Amino acid sequence: MKTELLDLTTENIELAAKMIAEGKLVAFPTETVYGLGADAMNSSAVGKVYAAKGRPSDNPMIVHIAEKADLARLTPVVTDVMNALMKAFWPGPLTMVVSKMPGIPDATTGGLDSVGVRMPSDETARALIRKSGCSIAAPSANISGRPSPTRPQHVVEDLDGKIDAILMGHECQVGIESTVIDVTGDVPIILRPGIITQKELENAIGQKVEMDPALFVNRPRDVSQPGFKPKAPGMKYKHYAPKAEMMIISGEITKVKTEIDRLKSENEAEGKEVGVILFEDNQFREAAHDFFAKLREFDEKAVDLILAGALDTNDGVGFAVMNRMLKSAGYSVINV
Ligand code: TXA
Ligand code: MG
Repeated sequence: MKTELLDLTTENIELAAKMIAEGKLVAFPTETVYGLGADAMNSSAVGKVYAAKGRPSDNPMIVHIAEKADLARLTPVVTDVMNALMKAFWPGPLTMVVSKMPGIPDATTGGLDSVGVRMPSDETARALIRKSGCSIAAPSANISGRPSPTRPQHVVEDLDGKIDAILMGHECQVGIESTVIDVTGDVPIILRPGIITQKELENAIGQKVEMDPALFVNRPRDVSQPGFKPKAPGMKYKHYAPKAEMMIISGEITKVKTEIDRLKSENEAEGKEVGVILFEDNQFREAAHDFFAKLREFDEKAVDLILAGALDTNDGVGFAVMNRMLKSAGYSVINV
C-alpha cells in the first residue's frame, strides 16, 4: 500500500478527514504521542488498525473526540466526576474509561462494556476529528511492542506502506501517552500513569483516586502468574522494547552516575556500543518528552546496551516515565 505523507496544510487535514470518514487509516499528531486513527464506529476500519500495528485484538482503543459534549454520545450517563475531570483536564492528556453506549463496536473496545475516551488538546488532532465528522479510535501509531512515536519520522519508520496516510506534524509536546483513569466504579482508578498525576486528579474531583495494583507488579514473571489481571488490557503486553538490551540503574544520583560510567567503560572495552539515558535531576517533563525518542535514536545507532538512570517515583510524572522505562528494560534494575 502507498502511504501518503501529508504536510500540515488545511487542504491535507481535510483530505485526511475524508479518508477517515471513508474507513481509511490515518496517523496524526496529538500532544502525547502520534495516534493511528480510524472511524471508531466502523468495525472493519478498526480491524485494519489491529492488523497494521500487529496488535492483539483484545486490547481496546481510545476514542478521540473534538468537543466535551461528544462524551454524551459514547456513554449513557455523564457523572459529576466525569464533569469535574473534563472541566479540569480537557482538552488534554487524560483518558476516561466510562461505561460504553451500545452501538460502539466490540472491535473498538476489545469486547469490553467500557470505552476509553479522550479529547486531545492538539489543534491538528481536533481539526481532523471535527472535519471527519467521526469519533476517532486511535492507539499509538507504532508497531505493537515498539516505543511510542513522538516524531513524525517514528511513524514513517513503523507504518510506511501499511496505512493510508500520515499527517506529518511537529514533535509531541508531552511525549508519553495519556493518563488513563477508570471512572466506572465508586472510586476512580488510574490504569496508566501519565503527565496528569494522581494528586492533580484528586484535587480536581475532591476525592481519593487509587492506582491499579497491577502498576506495582514489577517483575515480568509476575505477569504470567495466575490471578494477575491488569484492568487495562494493554498493560500486560511487552512494551516499548528497544532492540538493545537495557538496564536501569537506581539509587543516589552520584552513585548512579559512577555505576553508569563503570558499566559503560566495561562494556565498551568488550567492543560494545553503549547508549546512556540520564536525565537532569527533577527534569521529569523533559524526561517524558525525550524518553521514547531516545530509545528510537539508540535503535537507529544500533547500540548493544542501553544504561538508564532511574527517576524519582515520588514525583507523579517521574512515576509515569518510570512505568515506561521499567517495561522497556524488561524490569532489569541494578540497585546501587
Ligand atoms: O495518549 C494516548 O492515550 C495515545 C494518543 C494517540 O491519544 N493513545 C494511546 O493508545 O496510548 P494505546 O492504544 O496505545 O493505549 C491505550 C491504553 C491501553 O493500555 C488500553 O488497554 C487502555 O488504554 N484502554 C483503552 N480502553 C480501555 C478500556 N475500556 N478499559 C480499560 N483500559 C482501556
Ligand atoms: Mg500504545
